Amino acid sequence: MRLLAISDLHLAAAHNREALQELLRHPDDWLIVAGDVAERLEVTDWALGLLAQRFARVVWVPGNHDLWTVGQDGPDAARGVERYDRLLTIAHSHGVVTPEDPFPEWPGALPDGVKRLVIAPLFLLYDYSFRPNDVALSDVVAWADEAHNVCGDEIHLAPDPFSTRPDWCRARLDETRHRLARELPDDAHTVLVNHWPLRRDLIRIPRVPRFTPWCGTTATEDWHRRYRAHAVVSGHLHTRRTDLVDGTRFEEVSLGYPRQWGHSRGVAGYLRTII
Ligand SMILES: [Fe+2]
Ligand SMILES: [Fe+2]
Repeated sequence: MRLLAISDLHLAAAHNREALQELLRHPDDWLIVAGDVAERLEVTDWALGLLAQRFARVVWVPGNHDLWTVGQDGPDAARGVERYDRLLTIAHSHGVVTPEDPFPEWPGALPDGVKRLVIAPLFLLYDYSFRPNDVALSDVVAWADEAHNVCGDEIHLAPDPFSTRPDWCRARLDETRHRLARELPDDAHTVLVNHWPLRRDLIRIPRVPRFTPWCGTTATEDWHRRYRAHAVVSGHLHTRRTDLVDGTRFEEVSLGYPRQWGHSRGVAGYLRTII
């Protein structure tokens, strides 16, 4: 029984959809899906349904692409929190664990020194605080635009009913801190899951260096220590890595767009073993 993880399936691409279909059944394993499944709700519905049938349990968090408003009417026209609620309904219809559910405890074998392990799926968004110190918040989009690195979220990711994405991010941080304080058992270690990386120093994207403002928040810099993380799982960067900080493993588990992964390995070749 293993805890596996992947993110950034980007199933708008037919290549990625076909590859996902070829994934074999893992009746004993759990799968973490760390966001950016698809822009269309019907594709997310299809994918989470497929994964829920092939794994013993699926734990999901939203990514920015999942939250895009891509329709003029119908379900895909939903904006912001309403869009997130629609994603939750889809996930729950397949029994998939979301950031709004009780944190599941890992029932399998535990790593050395760990007595209990709780998986905490998080939805924290970003607040542009991963910009350089000498760039003002009001200048951040213009600064990124000089290098053509502005994230599509500026057009497609509505924060409604919040005024801005940083406002939504602050609300998510507050709510999540309270839940973690209230619900994490004192003797438990964690696997923290968030689409965006929790630390700025783990972002290495030399091809789009001014994309960092859309990659997370400095508010989570010490969450791996604060919440006793055995591992932290994230995606978004499309740069697969494993880093070690203060003894915690940080796993960037993106698949990515079709040109960013080797098709001969299949999706199975990109399932990262967390436990
Ligand atoms: Fe992505
Ligand atoms: Fe993303």
